[in-house]
Amino acid sequence: MIRSRIEQVQAWEALDSRGRPTVAARVQLAGGATGTTRVPSGASAGSHEAKELRDGGDRYQGYGVRAAVAGVTEVIAPAVIGLDAAELITVDAAIADAQQDAGEDRVGANSTLAVSIASALAAAAEAGTDLARWLAGDGPLQLPLPMINIVSGGAHAGSAIDLQDFLVVPHGADSFAEAIEWAQAVRQRATEVAQRRGFAEAVLVADEGGLGLRLDSNEAAIGLVVEAIEAAGLTPGEQASVAIDAAATEFYADGAYHLAAEGRVLAAEELITDYAGWLDRYPIVSIEDPLAEDDWAGWQLITERLAGRCDLIGDDLFVTQRDRLDRGIAEHCGTSILIKVNQNGLLSRTQDVIRAAQQAGFRTVVSARSGETEDAWVADLAVGWRAGQLKVGSTHRSERTAKWNRVLELEATTDTTFAHPFPGAAEGSVRLA
Ligand code: PGA
Ligand code: ZN
Repeated sequence: MIRSRIEQVQAWEALDSRGRPTVAARVQLAGGATGTTRVPSGASAGSHEAKELRDGGDRYQGYGVRAAVAGVTEVIAPAVIGLDAAELITVDAAIADAQQDAGEDRVGANSTLAVSIASALAAAAEAGTDLARWLAGDGPLQLPLPMINIVSGGAHAGSAIDLQDFLVVPHGADSFAEAIEWAQAVRQRATEVAQRRGFAEAVLVADEGGLGLRLDSNEAAIGLVVEAIEAAGLTPGEQASVAIDAAATEFYADGAYHLAAEGRVLAAEELITDYAGWLDRYPIVSIEDPLAEDDWAGWQLITERLAGRCDLIGDDLFVTQRDRLDRGIAEHCGTSILIKVNQNGLLSRTQDVIRAAQQAGFRTVVSARSGETEDAWVADLAVGWRAGQLKVGSTHRSERTAKWNRVLELEATTDTTFAHPFPGAAEGSVRLA
């Protein structure tokens, strides 16, 4: 008997952190091992990402995933039962073929990802190990540097400000535990600073656990994070810096960038000039999606101008798709890629994307979504793939802490090293080696 042969696949509707349904699946192997997963879901999703299947209609305000669940049990299950879960690429190829035959209106990316992840988790369990180790092979595991959300805007906080995330990156920490301790101090101080300034809403948390504040400008959010870093007793730029996820696709329309909270409409060049000014004034290690998902010319321009000064991370630009990453590498767009497994839909294909990025000298950030669950496997992906960085929101909300807690567990119980993706940050440069 091949103990890692897939024997049973079950699926059902579960809830995510926004109270919306999501696909859950359980894969059982012949030897008895199981893997269970719930898939995440984005709010500021890129238009080129793999499509999740939603039911529409009245149930759950249209967010139901009964069709996607049926896609698992009726289409994918028969295609993978009998396959060896230890052969990730074979399982994923069968899932992809089944989806192609049945069509994306019967099998969504939420269906494919559920089975892809659940089989990998089951295979790792059958091998007597966990997903991080199963993906990493031999040698010490490399823990990622966390990037932690402090101020939230855009689609995650009722568009209080236009840019989506202002994060702290505790790059001077010596361990993951220290990095989390510093980040928590910054998050806590940010609440206090905001309360002192009269923001009553500073006690509330946005979708990813950050502060959703009605600030006067986007730049004010950067200033607040820097102030919180100082209030936490840390040296900005040396011990901890700022990262921004502009999520610019969300405020791009008709060829221009609309900063509604500031009443300004900017061309790509003007927005890039804004960013350059911020880099002059604040310690910023990375800007994610500084420009919109199809503004390749803008991306080329910003990469030419700012790549030596901070990381430029493509999220909606690359959507964890190999063809878009290859174009970005060829056309010099970006220096780093956000890796979200549900943008792709399959674990092995996502692994191919991160490997290609690493080979091209891009930095890589494994990321959760704004709609998450208590599952922690995204932490195992960051560790197993040696991504260097992990972005899962703030130090608040259990669907976020589940992931940090998973890395803390690995650090406490396993032979690990800690990534230092920004060795030059203290000298004011994150230039790639
Ligand atoms: P999303 O946001 O999950 O809502 O897409 C996360 C991000 O933009 O990085
Ligand atoms: Zn993003």
